[in-house]
Order: sequence, then structure tokens, then C-alpha cells
Amino acid sequence: MAIRNIRKDEDPILRKKAKKVEKIDERVKTLLEDMRETMYDADGVGLAATQVGVLKRIILVDVGEGLLEMINPEIVKSCGEALDEEGCLSLPGVNGVVPRPEAVTVKGLNPQGQEIVIEAKNLFARAICHEIDHLNGVLFTDRIVE
Ligand code: NI
Repeated sequence: MAIRNIRKDEDPILRKKAKKVEKIDERVKTLLEDMRETMYDADGVGLAATQVGVLKRIILVDVGEGLLEMINPEIVKSCGEALDEEGCLSLPGVNGVVPRPEAVTVKGLNPQGQEIVIEAKNLFARAICHEIDHLNGVLFTDRIVE
């Protein structure tokens, strides 16, 4: 395991769209391990592979309700809207209020390659949406309303 360098600020990779993972091979498993270590080391509540410079559709989220590791995550349902403050490990020192769905249903694969469906609300839903945005090259600062 290794802590990877978190891409920050104007790094152009943060604006690129990540590709779907076709096969969960050893490289992907090592990436997941490194992402875990990197996220916890940085005291983050979420991390997308894009943030460590790898354009694969992989996210990690841990808002204190346990670790979610998801490959090829897709929002299949969302409802409500909530406003709350966000920050990002890639944008140190920046905070802003961002609207997000109050609740989302997300579908994807777990690290074993099994399909999982997660229902998340509040901060958990917000973190998932924030991380999926990273996979599409979107930063929370694009969505700040106040
Ligand atoms: Ni972020």
C-alpha cells in the first residue's frame, strides 16, 4: 500500500472524464488499497480515482457510516434538494454552499465485482454526488450558490 499524491487546484487531470472500469484486475485492487490509505491519511470523507491522477470510474466515501468503495457508480434515482457547505481535498482552503439531492440511489460494483445498490441520504448522498462529479471532471466550485 502507498499514499498517492492528491492532484490539486488547476491540475488539468481534475477536468477530465474518467473511463469505465472493464475489469477488476490487480492494478485496480492496488489502486483501491492506495486510495483508502490516501483518503484516511488526508482525513477526507471521500476520494475519486481522478484525484490521484487515475482516470478510472472509482470512488470511495466514508462519512462515518462505514466505507463505501464503488466501481462504475451511477446515480439511478435522486430526490429532494439540500444546501450544505462542501470542501474538497483537491481544493484546499476552499469552501462553499452547494445544492445536492437529499437522497440518492446509486448502483455500481463492489471491489469483488458484484453489483451493489446503495440508498444514501444527507451527507452520505452529498459525498457520493461530489465524488461522482469528480469522475466527470466537475468540481464543487462549479456548483457553488453562495
Ligand atoms: Ni472532491
